Amino acid sequence: TPPSLLRNFCIIAHIDHGKSTLADRMLQHTGVVDARAMRAQYLDRMDIERERGITIKSQAVRLPFTKSTGDDAGTTYVLNLIDTPGHVDFTYEVSRSLEACEGAVLLVDAAQGIEAQTLANLYLAIDADLHVIPVLNKIDLPGAQPEKYAAEIAHILGGDPDDVLRVSAKTGEGVESLLNAIVDEVPAPVGDADAPPRALIFDSVYDTYRGVVTYVRVVDGKLTHRDRIKMMSTGAVHEMLEVGVISPEPVKAGEIGVGEVGYLITGVKEVRQSRVGDTVTSNVHGATEPLGGYRHPNPMVYSGLYPIDGDDYPTLRDALEKLQLNDAALSYEPESSGALGFGFRIGFLGLLHLEIVRERLEREFNLDLISTAPNVVYRVVMEDGSEVTVTNPSEYPTGKIATVHEPVTKATVLSPAEYIGAIMELCQSRRGQLQGMDYLSEDRVEIRYTLPMGEIMFDFFDALKSRTKGYASLDYEPTGEQEADLVKVDILLQGEVVDAFSAIVHRDSAYAYGVALAGRLKELIPRQQFEVPIQAAIGARVIARENIRALRKDVLAKCYGGDISRKRKLLEKQKEGKKRMKMVGRVEVPQEAFIAALSTG
Ligand code: GTP
Repeated sequence: TPPSLLRNFCIIAHIDHGKSTLADRMLQHTGVVDARAMRAQYLDRMDIERERGITIKSQAVRLPFTKSTGDDAGTTYVLNLIDTPGHVDFTYEVSRSLEACEGAVLLVDAAQGIEAQTLANLYLAIDADLHVIPVLNKIDLPGAQPEKYAAEIAHILGGDPDDVLRVSAKTGEGVESLLNAIVDEVPAPVGDADAPPRALIFDSVYDTYRGVVTYVRVVDGKLTHRDRIKMMSTGAVHEMLEVGVISPEPVKAGEIGVGEVGYLITGVKEVRQSRVGDTVTSNVHGATEPLGGYRHPNPMVYSGLYPIDGDDYPTLRDALEKLQLNDAALSYEPESSGALGFGFRIGFLGLLHLEIVRERLEREFNLDLISTAPNVVYRVVMEDGSEVTVTNPSEYPTGKIATVHEPVTKATVLSPAEYIGAIMELCQSRRGQLQGMDYLSEDRVEIRYTLPMGEIMFDFFDALKSRTKGYASLDYEPTGEQEADLVKVDILLQGEVVDAFSAIVHRDSAYAYGVALAGRLKELIPRQQFEVPIQAAIGARVIARENIRALRKDVLAKCYGGDISRKRKLLEKQKEGKKRMKMVGRVEVPQEAFIAALSTG
């Protein structure tokens, strides 16, 4: 397809604003999928995605669309819809898929208005010079307020509120006008057809049958199925087994040229060898300059994962190896804990990433796991000038510390104006610094703060939601690090430090943290046959204590002899309850206790 007939675009939307539904409707309207084959959220392939209704991996689909308006009515164009992930953990992936497009549909729920994450992605699109087409969705809803939100969008983007398109992805109303607008407004791709090939990898997916499927956008030249290709960040050369386009199932093509979006199947076995953001070229007469913007994914949060049953350790190791085949951002190394035994310290992009990995390990590999409270990464500079990177609080150095550095983020909150006070109070209590505030409309504001990552990543969003009756939305991005006065708080059970409970907190809140955590643990750890003292300490100084009184726990006593099946039931019930317990010394500790640190803030 000549570039003049190509249009590459993506849809930027907040979760639940209807991106998948609109994509489905476009597939249907262009006849790519007939109504019978249509299943909801066609583009979301992974089961977990479908169940959670979120899009993690971007996908691309080719839509042949015949213009129905204007001078070029009757001309058939090829629209490539590139699906972008919507969650803050995957910002880098979003930026790469935007880079593969010339245009973006900004899709906003006409009953909700724009949300902070959408705004953040919109700014990424504007930075990438994409042409933005603003669209209000769900105009069929009785609660829709298209006038109000069109004015808000016009305020952000400039332009006339009347130019904001209105659609219903559910009924299909307005979808054809939108497709016409995409052809009219989104620029055709430009590139040098005679130059050595350069293609941007915007996604890379592991497929059990075919190995790694790499999604690319060709910028210059062409990739043909006879090429041997080279990954420019590593110089690794791979056999090309297949080139094709997605429509919406993979269709082989001899080659893909300037501006085209397609997939490559190569000899690559792990997605790590085919990284999002990397540039593909051919091995002979290849390009010398890669496309800009490649970045190695750096984990933002770390957590320990331990099998409840120590015998499962090899299974966990194999499972992680398998997961890494299709998750380039997952990193792990073995660690051992005095309390939990052998396990792994795992690096994640964010909490959602953590939850997904954990869920997949448990579901797909049938593992019962204990995860420790997640933490961010600290850089500790010692007085002798040496440096320690702390990914596990229990490994916080004990020697003479000169300075401690923590990661910081730039956070944006969008909210109805009536909650400004509550939001500022929350941000202040998390050591935030106000950067600025703008009214998007009479009653909605955008508030910007810098906040330590350790303060925002874990329970901040819940706290924000509860203080704003669910109306505020949040986005944040890492911006660097700052020096901070941090200390390690330890928890002792029966006088022994339990390494898995250690946390790094700001000195000013260490006391409150210790008291709250000791209190939570007292509630969460069941009574045992003996007394269990709980202490919180900074170094040798105890800052809080609680006591779990002893209990003679004899559930069978209730059965008054007799009924054997009833007895068995009770025993089984008790076993169920124990499934998530871990013996720490002589004390049985439930899973929730290990992440209790998260909910004491
Ligand atoms: P993620 O995949 O989680 O990012 O969500 P999404 O933005 O793709 O939203 P999705 O398409 O799953 O739609 C969210 C909900 O809104 C679903 O229940 C849809 O049926 C509904 N929905 C989408 N478009 C419309 C619309 O035009 N009108 C109405 N009434 N409901 C819609």
